[in-house]
Amino acid sequence: MRVSLTGIHKIYGKTRPTKVLDDLSMTIESGDFVAITGPSGSGKSSLLNLLGCLDSPTFGQIFFDQRDVSRAPEAVRERIRLQHIGFVFQNYQLLPGLTVQENVSLPMQLAGVRRGERLARVQGLLTMIGLQKQADQRIGTLSGGQQQKVAVARALANLPGLLLADEPTGSLDGQSTLQVMEVIREVNRSRSVTTILVTHDPQVAAYAQKVYRLENGQLHG
Ligand SMILES: Nc1ncnc2c1ncn2[C@@H]1O[C@H](COP(=O)(O)OP(=O)(O)OP(=O)(O)O)[C@@H](O)[C@H]1O
Ligand SMILES: [Mg+2]
Repeated sequence: MRVSLTGIHKIYGKTRPTKVLDDLSMTIESGDFVAITGPSGSGKSSLLNLLGCLDSPTFGQIFFDQRDVSRAPEAVRERIRLQHIGFVFQNYQLLPGLTVQENVSLPMQLAGVRRGERLARVQGLLTMIGLQKQADQRIGTLSGGQQQKVAVARALANLPGLLLADEPTGSLDGQSTLQVMEVIREVNRSRSVTTILVTHDPQVAAYAQKVYRLENGQLHG
């Protein structure tokens, strides 16, 4: 999926407005892997929320391929999120009471993917992350690194064109960080998923083809 932002402004609040993104434009070609760094409070998560159709820009447009998604109605945005975008967050956001395979399968159930296809995809994804043996284990029994790999697998369940990750290694130790980043790099290469990752860690940013810095509401290449 090609992602293009034109003239994005994000202003929070009405009485005491805070301008976070200030006439930001960028294009990320299909299959590219970019990292976004920048000081705390510079608007990295705000930008990712816009890209993820979780929020709308105050002004400006967001295109997924040719389609302007910036002001689509909520029902349409929900569909876009489910079918075209995979999210990975710092705190995994998995369902701890469910097993590994139930977590990975859930987005497919929501999208109405039939059972046979779901099982096949779960198999493939668990093989990709090397957790086939843990398929029936509850999430709560896994290490942080293992949980984050499951979160990556879940993000890919509906074969999205865009993978968004906000500090995906922020809670992990050095070894797990490398393992999760290897998985993300492999996903980006083998599935041609456009990948946009926010991180404070220069070692993590180095996995991307291009690193941007967000500062004063603008992206610097
Ligand atoms: N929903 C909101 N309402 C009002 N202000 C917000 C909202 N979300 C974010 N902000 C403000 O926008 C600015 C940017 O926040 P954001 O979370 O995008 O930064 P960040 O770069 O992700 O920071 P960090 O590196 O600490 O995660 C901050 O000043 C924050 O307080
Ligand atoms: Mg943030």
